[in-house]
Amino acid sequence: MRLLAFSMSGSLLKNAGNGISVTASRKVSSWWGHVEMGPPDAILGVTEAFKRDQNPKKINLGVGAYRDDNGKPFVLPSVIKAEQQMRSKNLDKEYSPISGNPEFCQHSINLALGDGNEIVANGLNSTVQSISGTGALWIGMKFLEHFFPSSRDVYIPSPSWGNHAQIIKLAKLTPKSYRYYDPKTCGLDFQGALEDINKIPEKSVILLHACAHNPTGVDPKPEQWQELSHLIKKKNLFTFFDMAYQGFASGDVNRDAQAVRLFVKEGHKIALSQSYAKNMGLYGERVGAFSLINSGKEETARTLSQLKILIRPMYSNPPIHGARIVSEILGDPELKKEWLADVKLMADRIISVRTNLRDNLKKSGSIRDWSHITDQIGMFCFTGLKAPEVENLTKNFSVYLTKDGRISMAGVTSKNVEYLAHAIHEVTK
Ligand code: LMR
Repeated sequence: MRLLAFSMSGSLLKNAGNGISVTASRKVSSWWGHVEMGPPDAILGVTEAFKRDQNPKKINLGVGAYRDDNGKPFVLPSVIKAEQQMRSKNLDKEYSPISGNPEFCQHSINLALGDGNEIVANGLNSTVQSISGTGALWIGMKFLEHFFPSSRDVYIPSPSWGNHAQIIKLAKLTPKSYRYYDPKTCGLDFQGALEDINKIPEKSVILLHACAHNPTGVDPKPEQWQELSHLIKKKNLFTFFDMAYQGFASGDVNRDAQAVRLFVKEGHKIALSQSYAKNMGLYGERVGAFSLINSGKEETARTLSQLKILIRPMYSNPPIHGARIVSEILGDPELKKEWLADVKLMADRIISVRTNLRDNLKKSGSIRDWSHITDQIGMFCFTGLKAPEVENLTKNFSVYLTKDGRISMAGVTSKNVEYLAHAIHEVTK
């Protein structure tokens, strides 16, 4: 293979024929002189900027990671208990199978589709463990790249989680969008969504957020999901559900899985990505799952074999610890009950802090309509703040959020809500 290299100044150096580029008398001064500085990540870059700020009043509303009412990371009591139970089992550190921990995979698909569901009973799911939700999306998009028969286009809502389009592009597919959010109402543009989905060419891929839409916090109502399911079926589209927040929208994991269960019941053969970052607080453990729903048992065996072939050169097999925690919790009825209470506790705090923020905005004198703060659900609120207002908030009040005006409600506490409301009022009056 011929190697080309660039000098510090960016000029091309000659290939010496042995794979190493040199000039007549000088060695290569840099291989990477041509590499440009990239921008910070739109979401994770906010945390980096927050950490540099010395203001004691600073607030991080950037990344979607749960915090307790003291603004501290929260390790779920059920997770602590699971780890204690695991310690007493003297578990080994052997490699996981390529597709991950088998019990974990089984628990994950059951959590999504409900215990006793027919898909699992009939062997119709090919489920693999993934490196959290991002890894699940990546496995899924790579599978589509290799095997989706009819289109390269993946339709995502506008707006969508910032990483969706990047993952789709990296998998050599093309992100396209359909209307979803109406900035005028700070709610769902349901008519716009129906119109755009109706225009999507048949046999394309559509991505849906199963619940707690990121970044808007706006979800379709049950009857709207029903209509979406019918339309998507009529158009013969392939549905890819991203379910990163099961339990975080309503506090109830079954209720939050309703859209996924409805689509499966109506015969959609979906792809599904799941994450335990939020609902078990296992952010850094990177544990999630990817599933395909197949048309027959034999198809399941074939798709599973190809998923494994895709995973092996990426990372060989997934890490073991996070998947064991999930299995320990979901496999123990008592512990599962405790976990469901932990999920509800987190969701309830977010719901109450929404009311608190809205009340404090009113108290601070804001006459704007902030009803969308309490109408929206899940981890995020799409405030409607414009880019200059966001900039002002960060520069003058040390309040950190993404440029699109999304705030992670989990960063709001009973201690900082008054200051935050004052700051928001100051930049929006
Ligand atoms: C977010 O949207 O803040 C989270 O999903 C974290 C991430 O990786 O972007």
